[in-house]
Order: sequence, then structure tokens, then C-alpha cells
Amino acid sequence: HRHVDRATPEAVAATIEAGDFHAEIPAYETLEAYRAGGGYARLAELRAGGDWEAVQEAVAASGLRGLGGAGFPSGKKWGFVRANPGPRLMAVNGDEGEPGTFKDRHYLERVPHLFLEGTLIAAWAVEAERVYIYMRDEYPAVLEILATEIAALEAAGIAAPGFLELRRGAGAYICGEESAMIESIEGKRGLPRHRPPYVAQVGLWGRPTLVHNVETLHWVARVVREGPEVLSAHERNGRTGLRSYSVSGRVAAPGIYLLHCGSTITDIIAAAGGMAEGHAFKAYQPGGPSSGLLPASLDDVPLDFGTLQPHGSFIGSAAVVVLSDRDSARDAALNMLRFFESESCGQCTPCRVGCEKAVKLMQAPAWDTGLLEEVSQAMVDASICGLGQAAPNPIRLVMKHFPEEIGGG
Ligand code: NAI
Ligand code: SF4
Repeated sequence: HRHVDRATPEAVAATIEAGDFHAEIPAYETLEAYRAGGGYARLAELRAGGDWEAVQEAVAASGLRGLGGAGFPSGKKWGFVRANPGPRLMAVNGDEGEPGTFKDRHYLERVPHLFLEGTLIAAWAVEAERVYIYMRDEYPAVLEILATEIAALEAAGIAAPGFLELRRGAGAYICGEESAMIESIEGKRGLPRHRPPYVAQVGLWGRPTLVHNVETLHWVARVVREGPEVLSAHERNGRTGLRSYSVSGRVAAPGIYLLHCGSTITDIIAAAGGMAEGHAFKAYQPGGPSSGLLPASLDDVPLDFGTLQPHGSFIGSAAVVVLSDRDSARDAALNMLRFFESESCGQCTPCRVGCEKAVKLMQAPAWDTGLLEEVSQAMVDASICGLGQAAPNPIRLVMKHFPEEIGGG
């Protein structure tokens, strides 16, 4: 693991120079272009005497929910953080580690200032004294863009020098869990903390801390500029809003698709150009490996927060992976558990040992479904964080929907 440091433009340039990365910087909207289109005007107005509660109301009216995956109502967090005495801090979760998720990268490589303005608006709303932007190290272009544009914001007097601090993650999936991220920013090993207390109460260095995902802040800026209707005006299948689906797997055109929140897998595959040639739709991962696998027969469920719980799954960060008749659901689930086994931080036994035992049991020609269910339940009941609690989802869903693939019980 590389150590975490402050990613100044010089440091990033030196790392790239040294051949560590191959950053191809895409054409993105610079500070100048963003300001020419009216960018940072609302921030200036707010700082000059805006009402944070009015902004919170606009965010609530838009229906924006936390887009890291949990879907917590976004504006509500501001009230939680403000309820605690300052000094307050803010941390942005840009450690987009969920396999199949690449929406934050998509926006940061194209319109980084929507994210940066959203960050400064949220920081203003909770009166944060400093913002730590924890960014995935595997996104070298994003690191370079952010380092450059933060320096430009400082030069333009929009952000005070050092107010926005860029931190590099070191490739550990668990450091995307918010309290592990906070430990990591503090310079410690990234181990999730018990909750409560929530980070809104006790976060960075014990201070109340506002934590948001990158894309959430991108939408905060848009809601503040364009009004809540930018999200709330969209409706489909009884669901309101828009969702950035990261679509990969056996589709003709993988990529990010901004669609209605009420979209079904059928809509999503259609948006991605249909199935890849020669592939028939068989199953899909709706939102990262912790959401498991659903069969093609469940093709009419809106993929939104709350709609998949009855099916033992959830939308999470909307990382949709499409599998075809050429793929094995059993092998996909085993692959997911291997991932959790290697990424488990190891501090609690049900997750550390549970993942390891599950991988062994899933390699047997016939799955011992009784034992796998027992291990799964122990992990759900007794793991500290979401990794261990959700890791059994792929096991359970494959046992339920693809029994023909797992041999005699
Ligand atoms: P959570 O529902 O426990 O918490 C969500 C957020 O709301 C947190 O910031 C938490 O501090 C806050 N919160 C919840 N209740 C609160 C209260 N009573 N008071 C104050 N704050 C409160 O969910 P969690 O465990 O943080 O996130 C799980 C999600 O993360 C999963 O749905 C998964 O899809 C997603 N995930 C996303 C990844 C990515 O790369 N984007 C990677 C791995 C997981
Ligand atoms: Fe670590 Fe797993 Fe426990 Fe989470 S559930 S704290 S990843 S051992």
C-alpha cells in the first residue's frame, strides 16, 4: 500500500513523471469555462448572506439521496452535523471502490467544478472549517484534474488556501466505508468504527463531520443552480428523480447512463444498446457485489432505493453488471465472495472467518446450503459494518434463483 499524502499538483505530476501512472487527461470543463456559464455565482450569493435552511429545503424538495449507495436523505445530514457544536469538518468520499461503479469518475473527468461548487456549498451550509477530499488512487486523471482545479480556485480566491485538501486512498475497498475513511484520513489503518455515534456527531479527530459522496455534491450544485425540479420533475414507475447507472457486462455499449430512478433492468439494457451480440440476458447485479445477483425474470422491478429489499437486494451505488447465458451465476457469486474475503479488514470474526469459510464451501462441487445459510446468518447478525453484513447476499440469491447451478444440497 502506498502511503496517503496531500496530492499537490507537483506531487501528482512527479508521480506521473516517475511512470507510476498513465493519466490521460480528458477534455474537461475548466474553472474559466464553468464560471463563464454562471458557475460559482450562487456560492458567492450564499456566502454573502444566504439562508442554509432554504438550501436544505431545496435539496429535500429535489428528493436527492446519498449516492454513495445508502440513499440517506442528503439535506437531513446538514441538520445533524449543525446540531453539534463546532469546529466542524467535512470529508468527501471519492473512494469509489464498488466493483462495477464508475459514476464519480465519469463526472469528475468531465465537469469537476459542479462537484467542487457542491462541496463548497455543503461546507458553507454546515460551517465546516476544512474539507478533506478522499480520492481513489486508481483515478490518476481525476487526481490531476482536482489538484489543478483546486489550485485554480485558490488563485481565484474562491477557496482559501488549504481549505480543500486532497487525500489519496491506497487501494483498500474498506476505506470507502465512511468511518474507515475517517480513520484513514487521520493517518491510521482503515478500520470501520462502531455506530452510533455517527460521524455527524463524532467524526474526524472527534469533531462533527459531514460526509458526502462525490456525485451527491455534484447534484447539490445542480439543485442550487437549477432548482429542485432538475431532479423532482422526472418520474417513472412511481419513482421520482434521476439515477446515474454504471452499466457493464454483456451489453453492447457499457457506460454511465443517466436515467429515471424508476428504470428497470429492461430499460437499462436498452439504454446500453441492448445485449452484446450473441448473448442472451440471464442475470444482473443491481448495485455492487453486496447486492448479489438477480435473475432475468425480475426484469420489471424499478432499480431505486427501497424497491429491491423485498427481493433480498438493494440498488446501492447503481453498479449494474449484466450477465448472459455464457456466464455462471455460481462462479459470479464465488468471485464476489473472494473479493469480500480479500477486502475484509479482519477486525470482526464473523466477517473475516465467514468470508473465508463461505469461499471454501462455494468451491465444493455441491454447495452445503444448510451450512452456507448458517454462516450467512452469523455474518448478517454479528458483523460490524456493511461489508460483512451484506457479503452473504450473493450466496443467498444464487441459492434461491439458480439452484440448478449449485449441485445437490
Ligand atoms: P448507512 O445507511 O448506515 O449510512 C448512510 C449515511 O447516513 C452515513 O453517512 C451515516 O453516517 C448517515 N446516517 C445514517 N443514520 C444516521 C443517523 N441516525 N444520524 C446521523 N447520520 C446517519 O449506510 P453505509 O453503511 O454508510 O453505506 C452502505 C452503502 O454503501 C451500501 O448501500 C453500498 O451500496 C455502498 N457502497 C458504495 C461503494 C461505492 O464505491 N460507492 C462501495 C461500497 C459500498
Ligand atoms: Fe471489517 Fe468485515 Fe467487520 Fe466490516 S464486517 S469491520 S470489513 S471485519
